Amino acid sequence: MRAWQVMRHGRPSEALELVEVAPPEPGPGEILVRTTASVLNFNEVDGCRGRYLTIDPPLPYTLGMECVGEVVAAGSGAESWIGRRVTASGRGGIGAHADLVAGSTAMAFEAPAQLGDVEAAAFFYPFHLAYLGLHERGRLAAGETVLIHAAAGGVGSAAVQLAVAAGARVIATVGDAAKADLVRKLGAEIVVEYRKEDFVARALEATGGLGVDVCFDGVGGETMTKSFGCLARGGRHLVVGFASGIEAEEVPMVSGRVLCFGNFDVVGVILSYVDDALAPHVTPFAPVPVPRCNPPVATVGQRVHARLLELLGRGAIRPIVGQRVPFADLAKALDAMETGKTMGRIVVER
Ligand SMILES: NC(=O)c1ccc[n+]([C@@H]2O[C@H](COP(=O)([O-])OP(=O)(O)OC[C@H]3O[C@@H](n4cnc5c(N)ncnc54)[C@H](OP(=O)(O)O)[C@@H]3O)[C@@H](O)[C@H]2O)c1
Repeated sequence: MRAWQVMRHGRPSEALELVEVAPPEPGPGEILVRTTASVLNFNEVDGCRGRYLTIDPPLPYTLGMECVGEVVAAGSGAESWIGRRVTASGRGGIGAHADLVAGSTAMAFEAPAQLGDVEAAAFFYPFHLAYLGLHERGRLAAGETVLIHAAAGGVGSAAVQLAVAAGARVIATVGDAAKADLVRKLGAEIVVEYRKEDFVARALEATGGLGVDVCFDGVGGETMTKSFGCLARGGRHLVVGFASGIEAEEVPMVSGRVLCFGNFDVVGVILSYVDDALAPHVTPFAPVPVPRCNPPVATVGQRVHARLLELLGRGAIRPIVGQRVPFADLAKALDAMETGKTMGRIVVER
């Protein structure tokens, strides 16, 4: 089968090669998906660069976190999935940019029937991650104010829609005017082009000085520490990602004093469901340098998915496909993602 493999570390177009490899075998509790589309994730840029500590397999390995397709084979215990159209993740968060992908049923979900393969591919990670952040971890309530960074991105555009659907006020930060147009259309009340304006001042102004209740932060670094300056009493800062530089994930960003006097929470969010039978701290990844990894279990994932299908069914949310690219152009498209200029999800067609 064809697979995009990381052969060496560097810029995506230098690191990746399209090669022929043997298909993976589904193990117990796993499915094998014949892919019709996969999606680019910002973390894959860091994977190519060799600076993503969480998923850092030995080279060469097949890149790709999520895909859409039909289940064509299954390991023991997963046979009932054969024939289903799913949106799924590759084993260990890799392997999805290939013709065949093996992964756990804990990270596989019914592809929404009303969406074609390209849109279905853009649905899973952004909406699950945004839902886990805003609702499961952030306890967002109607009438609260949410500050969403990288709001026009794949994950950010999903967070804007879910926050609006929950009856929250959205303040969105974006890198340029085209992104500002998109998030306004998605329902953001206040849109800040952060290169031209100070988002802290705008957020304080919009909330009468009280600050925002929730900050959805997929950017990290200085954006994280700056955001503490406009977080309300009892606020929740959601640590979702580090698009401004993955190195920041290992840098202590908050002192006890900031937390104590801020009287707010800093809340981690991970999207990676594991089988309910696994011990709570078991990680699906190779050993990672964190004291504990506590991913949610598969039944939480199925509950989140059912809620998302309901919201999709009544038109409250829709996946944002910024670009479709042919399989052969995947590496170049990942180069473009690294520049930070892309909007919505970039879907790779077969
Ligand atoms: N916690 C989890 O389990 C999990 C799972 C998947 C993804 N994530 C994280 O979620 C975040 C969003 O992922 P995504 O795939 O949807 O990416 P994305 O938001 O589509 O792309 C990243 C965006 O970040 C902004 N950005 C800010 N500073 C940047 C910089 N120095 N270089 C490049 N971009 C910069 C850019 O938007 P502006 O122009 O608007 O600034 C850019 O478009 C990422 O941090 C990712 O790692 C977390």
